[in-house]
Amino acid sequence: MLLQHSGFGIAVTGSGSCTPQVTLDNNGLSQMVDTSDEWIVARTGIRYRRLADDRTSLCDLAAEASRRAIEMARITPTDIDLIVLATSTADDLFGSASQIQYQLGATKAVAFDLTAACSGFVFGLVTASQFIRTGIYQNVLLIGADILSRWVNWSDRGTCILFGDGAGAVVLQASETDSLLGFEIRSDGTQNSSLNLAYKAQPKELIDGVSIGQGAFHPITMNGQEIYRFAVKKVPEVIEKAMFRANISVEEIDWLLLHQANQRILDAVAQRLTVPAEKVISNLANYGNTSAASIPIALDEAVRDGKVKTGDTIAAAGFGAGLTWGAAIFKWGR
Ligand code: UT7
Repeated sequence: MLLQHSGFGIAVTGSGSCTPQVTLDNNGLSQMVDTSDEWIVARTGIRYRRLADDRTSLCDLAAEASRRAIEMARITPTDIDLIVLATSTADDLFGSASQIQYQLGATKAVAFDLTAACSGFVFGLVTASQFIRTGIYQNVLLIGADILSRWVNWSDRGTCILFGDGAGAVVLQASETDSLLGFEIRSDGTQNSSLNLAYKAQPKELIDGVSIGQGAFHPITMNGQEIYRFAVKKVPEVIEKAMFRANISVEEIDWLLLHQANQRILDAVAQRLTVPAEKVISNLANYGNTSAASIPIALDEAVRDGKVKTGDTIAAAGFGAGLTWGAAIFKWGR
């Protein structure tokens, strides 16, 4: 049963993705740090990751993923009213969404960045949907894109094995029927120190008595076990809450589409929810954890492979730094 809304419904009508050409496999990583293909596959399920070289910008990846999503939705860039870019690794701290708007020629669209780490796509989906629900905008482009390789400590074997780069996008359109059935998004700053890409300031005295903090962002630090425990506990809870809001049972979920962090997390969450393995979308073996991009890349591959079909019900959930986590239940297609 669909929830009745007084405003406008949302349809997810197009998807696209783009990952860099360069591939790094586990054997390559074992030349850099004390690790092995066996360890990485057994503990994470990851085999390859795509890495952006110095000439590849976040905007380039995001714009290409967007073009593919726009084409699938059968609209043109000038139809787009709003662009939301979910990222933690913008090319420019002032924001990269406007640059993507320019690259696409989406002349009518307002564009802004949204940062919620690996939950960015789900937070972006909920944010973008509000503009459609209220009748303000008809066509929204939502992008999840990250180049975490810029910020990984490549000598830390606890983190460098996990991450990869990429971009994914979806087009959301106003619709008479509503495909966003339910959602729940959450934050908890008490565990913020478990996963950081933090700015560290050094004191700099400008003139006598006027001092500022000028420094740099430092590479990613993570307490892997803490994040693992958090994900396995909180993600099933938030999906259950979103299912409750959507008024659907777990049997009505066609696909479980989790942030692609670790196969063991995917398996544990599916088991807790009693979702069978064949309904779990997983492509992390090929891409690793691409942060905000992982859900839309996996969605796009599943759509283009013909796995996800029009009308299928998808339970998507993101989780990560902040800490942040969230779930959205939606139907694919027009
Ligand atoms: O978007 C959200 C981002 N983060 C995540 O999703 C991360 C969630 N956490 C995880 O995925 C897992 O905690 C990891 C994959 C990061 C680590 O797996 P684990 O099973 O929790 O391993 P561990 O940290 O408990 O380490 C077990 C052992 C340690 O050795 P000792 O102390 O038992 O001798 C580590 O030093 O494995 C060692 N280790 C490694 N060995 C080979 C840690 N990293 C590696 C490595 N290769 N890359």
